[in-house]
Parts: sequence; structure tokens; C-alpha cells
Amino acid sequence: MKTAVVYYSYDGSTRVAAEVLARQLGADVFELEEVKKRGKSVLSFVAAGFGALTGKRSRLKNDFAAEMKNYDCLYIGSPVWANRTVPAVNAFLDSLDAAGKKIVLFTLQADPNVESAPDTCLLAHKQALEKRGATVLRLLRLHGASPGKTVESGHIEAQLSAQAVEQ
Ligand SMILES: Cc1cc2nc3c(=O)[nH]c(=O)nc-3n(C[C@H](O)[C@H](O)[C@H](O)COP(=O)(O)O)c2cc1C
Repeated sequence: MKTAVVYYSYDGSTRVAAEVLARQLGADVFELEEVKKRGKSVLSFVAAGFGALTGKRSRLKNDFAAEMKNYDCLYIGSPVWANRTVPAVNAFLDSLDAAGKKIVLFTLQADPNVESAPDTCLLAHKQALEKRGATVLRLLRLHGASPGKTVESGHIEAQLSAQAVEQ
């Protein structure tokens, strides 16, 4: 089974998790980039949160549509913004030809209480992907870091070893 890890990261933690997962799974990695680069001001933070909260889709430099045809299993990673997935990941999920794919959605959040975080948004993605013929194997919620900080890979590895990752 060929596996890809696709992610967007603003502060680096989802990138760290994507790289750890890719190493463990022997997967290829694809980073989603937005056409319009986000700044780091308070205004950018508020705009980012508002965009996620209202389910925005951003324009991507590359949605990897052609590349994704080569993979059976996709790990798709998003930071949590306002308890939602981010606009870049929303756009990727919209454009994905999901039929027949096995999918794991993983998220990184600042709140260490990953189990109690609301998962309405992830469940909505799961339902929509399954309607399009994908099988969502699991929703993997990971603790990242506070906004502006980047998680250490050891912290991701510890969380993953507590909840065995498989294809
Ligand atoms: C605009 C914005 C909104 C956020 N909202 C939440 C939130 O609702 N819950 C949470 O636990 N963390 C929230 N965070 C923190 C991020 O989820 C956390 O820093 C994560 O590790 C970021 O991943 P990244 O480094 O890949 O961007 C938010 C961060 C930003 C920038």
C-alpha cells in the first residue's frame, strides 16, 4: 500500500508531525501552500481564525491532484484553528478525488486535552469523504504547541506510540 502524508502548517507543528508520521509509515510528504501568504500579526491571527470558523477554502499553489492518484492511503494533517480545520486543508479535501482512498485525518492543537476537543468539524469531513467513496480509518488528534511555537518531534512520537499508527 502506497501512503502519502499531506499537510498544511502555519507555525511548524503539523510539519513536525507529518515528518514523524512519514518516517514511521515510509510515506511520501506533500506540503500544502496557500497562494496568499499569511502574516504573523494579530490581525492575521484573527483573520485566520475567522476563516477557519466560517469554513473558508483558500487558493492553493498546488492541490497535488495528479500526484494523489498514485496513493492508496492518505494521512491529511491540519492545525486546529477555532476548533476547525484550516482553509488550505478544506480546499485540498474539496479537490481530492477521494473514491477508494483510505484516509486518516490528523490535527494539531494547542489544547493538551485532545480527547475533549470538539470534533464536529472532523466528523463532518469524515462523513463527506465517505459519501465520496473514501474510507476514513481514523481521526488522530495530537497536541502541538501554543500559537507561535513549534512542537518537538519527541512529543509527537510519545503521543503516537501511545496510540499505534498503522496503514
Ligand atoms: C488562528 C489560530 C487559531 C487557533 N485555534 C485553536 C483552537 O481553537 N484550539 C486549540 O487547541 N488550538 C488553537 N490554535 C493553536 C494551534 O492549533 C496550535 O498552535 C498548533 O500546534 C498549530 O499547528 P502548526 O504549528 O502546524 O500551525 C490556534 C492557532 C491559530 C494560529
